[in-house]
Amino acid sequence: MGYSFTAPAKNWATEPIERTEILWITIAGSWCLFMFGWMIAWHWIGNQNMANEAYRTTPEVYAKKVEDFTAKYTVRQDKSDPSLPVVAPPPGSDVYLAASRWQWRPVVEFQKGKTYRVHISSLDWDHGFSLQPENINFQAYPGYEQVVTMTPNKSGQFSIVCNEYCGIGHHTMLGRIYVKE
Ligand code: CUA
Repeated sequence: MGYSFTAPAKNWATEPIERTEILWITIAGSWCLFMFGWMIAWHWIGNQNMANEAYRTTPEVYAKKVEDFTAKYTVRQDKSDPSLPVVAPPPGSDVYLAASRWQWRPVVEFQKGKTYRVHISSLDWDHGFSLQPENINFQAYPGYEQVVTMTPNKSGQFSIVCNEYCGIGHHTMLGRIYVKE
């Protein structure tokens, strides 16, 4: 019984690297650096809505802010879901949107061309804030309040789609933003 073991004839680790392999490593490495550079550059030149501002909060504190904001600026109940208030904050003001399973509250109404400071947080667990059809995309976490500056440049009705799987009602979780001319 037994087995034989044959060591490699040479110490392959000290052999020179094949030239084509060096070429591919160089191409792949350069491409990585190029793409990494764009990640940083896009922050400034991409004109994207970045959440550069974020605060620690708690679901209780944040829920109170949303409640106060809603009480202050509600103008009507939503036509398609009368349980949802439509809130029309003045331009330049702070807007508080809360994700919870399985809703974005409240519905807001903006004016085209005006700027708003939109606060986003979750009251329970991880949800998504995907503004369609504009393809603006954030995650909403409990305990963190993110602030995104938005200036709608189109009027109409926009949907906030939750794109983080959040349980049985995930596919029904839709919020709404109206933009008035
Ligand atoms: Cu909330 Cu998916």
